Amino acid sequence: MRDADLSATLLAWYDRHARVMPWRVGPAARAEGVRPDPYAVWLSEIMLQQTTVAAVRDYFRTFVTRWPTVADLAAAEDGDVMAAWAGLGYYARARNLLKCARAVVDRHGGAFPADPDALRALPGIGPYTAAAVSAIAFDLPETVVDGNVERVIARLRDIHTPLPKAKAELTALAADLTPEVRPGDYAQAVMDLGATVCTPRNPACGLCPWRDGCAGRLAGSHVDLPKKAPK
Ligand code: ADE
Repeated sequence: MRDADLSATLLAWYDRHARVMPWRVGPAARAEGVRPDPYAVWLSEIMLQQTTVAAVRDYFRTFVTRWPTVADLAAAEDGDVMAAWAGLGYYARARNLLKCARAVVDRHGGAFPADPDALRALPGIGPYTAAAVSAIAFDLPETVVDGNVERVIARLRDIHTPLPKAKAELTALAADLTPEVRPGDYAQAVMDLGATVCTPRNPACGLCPWRDGCAGRLAGSHVDLPKKAPK
């Protein structure tokens, strides 16, 4: 399959199988051109670092109900935000969350920038989160690579180089696949594919929209990928 066919096939799969998450826009609204709120995308991506979707859901709802905009969060008392974060862990994230909200208000008038370099200049935003916000909230063709995406791409292209050495190669291969159309949906589609179909153990290849183009599956090596360097 050509790269353009792979991305089109995955987007069609996403339209039917996207996981429902409180920070996402559903398929009907998406078809009308509704974009997700950059504040919601940023907040969810910070919460999802080192934390599962299941654990994040309720915290996310609590935060956006109490602080519906980045300006509301920027004006919050530090202690209130830390208390609302209690239980999610990795508390540096909560301290940076507040710093970032205040920087978005002070430097950008309360509107998240779309540009990944401008996003990376904000507290607590690294390359992954910058790419995720740019792609998901602003539909810019940025490539979002997390552990799920590394696994999917290593299998699709049958890459046997171990992680972390393989990171640059997998990122480049992922970038080649990123389409100009709907890059935000595409980014989330690869993550969903890795989370629900192309799972670490017992991948559900029979349900995979990429099964016919998957070099790892055709070689029979997919279940052993990605390789990891011994610790
Ligand atoms: N993990 C982190 N961010 C995600 C997203 N936007 N969709 C699916 N899984 C994710």
